[in-house]
Amino acid sequence: MKWWQTKVAYELYPKSFLDTRGQGTGTIRGIIERLDYLASLGIGAVWITPVCRSPMVDNGYDIADYTDIDPSYGTMADMDELFTLAAERGIRIVIDLVFNHTSDQNPWFLESKKSQDNPYADWYIWRDAKEDGSAPTNWRGIFGGSAWTWCEERKQYYLHTFAVQQPDLNWANPEVRKALYKAANFWIERGAGGFRVDAITYIRKPDVFKDGTPDGEDGMVSVHDMTANTPGILDYLHEFKREVSDGHDIFTVAEANGVSADELKYWVGEDGAFDMLFEFSHVNLEFKGIETWCRPDPWTLSDLRTALFNSQEATKDNGWYPAFFENHDKPRCVDHFFPQGTDPVRAAKLMGLLLYTLRGTPFLYQGQELGYSNVRWDDISCYNDISSHGQYEFALSEGFSKEEALACVHAFSRDSARTPMQWDSSANAGFTTGTPWLPVHENYREQNVEAESADPDSVLSWYRKLAVIRRNLPALKEGDFTPLLEDSETILAWQRTCGDHKAVILASFAKEPQSYDEKLTEGLHVFLTNVKQHEEGKLQPFEAVLYVND
Ligand code: NOJ
Repeated sequence: MKWWQTKVAYELYPKSFLDTRGQGTGTIRGIIERLDYLASLGIGAVWITPVCRSPMVDNGYDIADYTDIDPSYGTMADMDELFTLAAERGIRIVIDLVFNHTSDQNPWFLESKKSQDNPYADWYIWRDAKEDGSAPTNWRGIFGGSAWTWCEERKQYYLHTFAVQQPDLNWANPEVRKALYKAANFWIERGAGGFRVDAITYIRKPDVFKDGTPDGEDGMVSVHDMTANTPGILDYLHEFKREVSDGHDIFTVAEANGVSADELKYWVGEDGAFDMLFEFSHVNLEFKGIETWCRPDPWTLSDLRTALFNSQEATKDNGWYPAFFENHDKPRCVDHFFPQGTDPVRAAKLMGLLLYTLRGTPFLYQGQELGYSNVRWDDISCYNDISSHGQYEFALSEGFSKEEALACVHAFSRDSARTPMQWDSSANAGFTTGTPWLPVHENYREQNVEAESADPDSVLSWYRKLAVIRRNLPALKEGDFTPLLEDSETILAWQRTCGDHKAVILASFAKEPQSYDEKLTEGLHVFLTNVKQHEEGKLQPFEAVLYVND
């Protein structure tokens, strides 16, 4: 097995991790200070969301310089120290490559927008206006509004899949690709242990740009439906692999949705471009198509099971599965997967057990180890997240009331995943001595690293246990995955087997007690459960249990 297949990875949101300067936003030195904390969680790889120079319109996903550190985070010397000190603790640092787009303040764009015939003219996606002066197509950007913005200087529109300030790069231009590969190699040379590759789905644009059938009252169609996974994309991705990852002891995990099972082998594994793919079917159960917060579909446990089991099946022979239930773009899992009123500690532990027992590398997200829940702020103006504002406006334009639009933001806002890390019960949860850029969750006095470290029954202690268990039980580390109870409407269950080692995982999503056939766990004993006392053949509400024969 490769090193990264046996590790637990941690997604770290640096802006909210630890501020060592009293400025209200996290710093790289803050990460250095808490490396021992990460080591205590058994973490072997830390994916840090972008820390490169950026105007922070999208919290770093708008990069102005791929090989420089944003001053708010510190310096390149800090980053080098982080690589070194992390490695000393057996932790590799994973860099987020944002290669679909740059910031509009990136010098490449500042040049490109000047005229139609400068050396950077073809580095972005520029098109003439339609005859009536309107945008080249009716595509809606992922954060809302048209995906095109007029540039008076150049007298053309540029395409931005995301915010106005995030112009899309033109991957058809070999110079652009060369510059991006150079930036990635810069990070390998400095010691990166891997890359998470952002929004890669969108890098290949269609040859012909045309209007799509509107999917909303605004007469627009999501840019996603018009440009995601355009045929030919794999040529670029395989080139990326040749020019960047081949020959290095690193891993790559790409953010890519909607890759079909037939195509998967070209995306991941031996013949694929990446080692792993983040796909979102299991965390987007309420969005069968485009993520439109005001129109969530109901989902059932069978939908969750199908999504998870399909991914397990798909990665059995192709690549490797990066398991996750939370990231910086998603609501907290205790709110997302459970009915209101569920005991949050029990729910958090259940999700942790699932995360660490699926076949694959678990990606734990900052705060998940403490059992974080969503925030519900009273007014849209309290929210920082650019997509929360876009979704709110879209909901209003679709006829929803302000209260209804805000309720959607409560359920899905990315800010819930971004509130500051709660270290202790002191002011601002010990995150900063200044004013935090995003309010600390109101529950920080009880839910924080210090308090949970002292409590053997806390969510944090549970995650620490899980890390040890996963490292030591061969069935969990390298065992095969077998689905169990596939028809159950209330219980998720599976088995992991490695030679004579066996583990069975059962998790109830029901409010009422459930029973199951005891034959499932014959010859095994209870190793871990999130309730006081497990009773054979029965599951209490939201109980999760791990049976093993070791
Ligand atoms: C996906 C990232 O995860 C998200 O946070 C970001 O806003 C978009 N890509 C644009 O880069």
